[in-house]
Amino acid sequence: MSVKLSDKYLSQFISGHEYTNIQPAVSAAHRQIVERNGAGNDFLGWIDLPENYDKEEFERIKVAAKKIQKSCDVFVVIGIGGSYLGARAAIEFLKSPNYNNLKKDTPDIYFAGCDISAVSIAEILEVCEGRDVCINVISKSGTTTEPAVAFRVFRELLEKKYGADGAKERIFVTTDKAKGTLKSFSDKAGYETFVVPDDVGGRFSVLTAVGLLPIAVAGVDIDSLMKGANDARLAYRDEDINKNDAYKYAAIRNILYRKGKTTEILVGYESYSKMLNEWWKQLYGESEGKDNRGIFPASVIFSTDLHSLGQFIQEGNRNLFETVISVEDSRVQFNIPHDENNIDGLNFLSGVDLNQVKKTAMLGTLLAHVDGGVPNVLIEMKDRSPYSLGYILYFFELACALSGYMLGVNPFNQPGVEAYKKNMFALLGKPGYEAMKAELEEKLK
Ligand code: PA5
Repeated sequence: MSVKLSDKYLSQFISGHEYTNIQPAVSAAHRQIVERNGAGNDFLGWIDLPENYDKEEFERIKVAAKKIQKSCDVFVVIGIGGSYLGARAAIEFLKSPNYNNLKKDTPDIYFAGCDISAVSIAEILEVCEGRDVCINVISKSGTTTEPAVAFRVFRELLEKKYGADGAKERIFVTTDKAKGTLKSFSDKAGYETFVVPDDVGGRFSVLTAVGLLPIAVAGVDIDSLMKGANDARLAYRDEDINKNDAYKYAAIRNILYRKGKTTEILVGYESYSKMLNEWWKQLYGESEGKDNRGIFPASVIFSTDLHSLGQFIQEGNRNLFETVISVEDSRVQFNIPHDENNIDGLNFLSGVDLNQVKKTAMLGTLLAHVDGGVPNVLIEMKDRSPYSLGYILYFFELACALSGYMLGVNPFNQPGVEAYKKNMFALLGKPGYEAMKAELEEKLK
């Protein structure tokens, strides 16, 4: 098993009979998933995706990735939410958060259209100056404002630089197979397109072309990624929480939520986990936070954040629990140097590998936080490989679906995201929103 869940640090918060008592609710939610009769059941395509993916498109993704690697220095990935977080998480986790600064034979990768910022756009444009550029615009709906604005900008850049025909060879579009303006526009313009399947929502789409194309461009073995996800799919089929870690994680979350633990902090111990945390936050936040329910997903990177949020976690409001991801990763070793004069008194650590120090820091923190009244779930990853990443991505997706059903919400919609969009469109003067504009402006007075 590439991913192992440990309940060792939960014993003072959850007793044995609570696991037994929650099993019927787990089994009921499990049936909603496998019988495909729960809310949002038209968005369950991610379940079998690691096996039933479009093999022809998968090969096309690899060919496109090679073409992109050969023809550009800068690859701009345009998308927001589920249309960029998975790719960015995988690239940073498997390569580095400093990927762009590493020596490599793959292009630099920048993410655009994931905010509303003149500064971000201007900076990426500057990075593109004098360099060959390709872009991948990703939008399932094809109508999301942030990526649509960025696409205008980068399409214009490519057309000016290479002409319409040249640009055509450098623009790759991932969107709905038939619907939406982005699809019809791309077909007309002759761009190569990839599909976001109808039955896979944005935040569950990392193992479709949405995530796979940028991840492959970064030089990651996407066959291994899919294999890991598929092995997880096969491993997590039993409804018994004693035999299914993904379900056990969902059960633990539900038990703790009922005890008032309304915030979950995902803890990573390396900066390469930061975007994986962000991916996880969207997955759980958007899936569960509705109908006035849900656990608020937060995240930290230790030991960095022990020096900012550590105090709160140790002694603040006791509505928290932590889920710690521990990655067995000794690819890089670094031994602490010896100092003859021992000025800092650290010679007891001379020659010790920093990985060992990190592990000890983690164990010390786990014990301290548990003593402080914070339940800790521990998830151990065997290594930092594409295979194990695929495994944990699937683990979290499945646990999220089960968790949402246990909570009694539809885990696959996001009605709340529309509220800000409507207000923004009205205030910006989008045709059709005139009455709303007047109403909102009144409120702002
Ligand atoms: O999970 C989701 O569905 C959302 O986060 C979407 O991915 C996000 O809003 C972007 O939507 P689109 O891909 O349609 O541009």
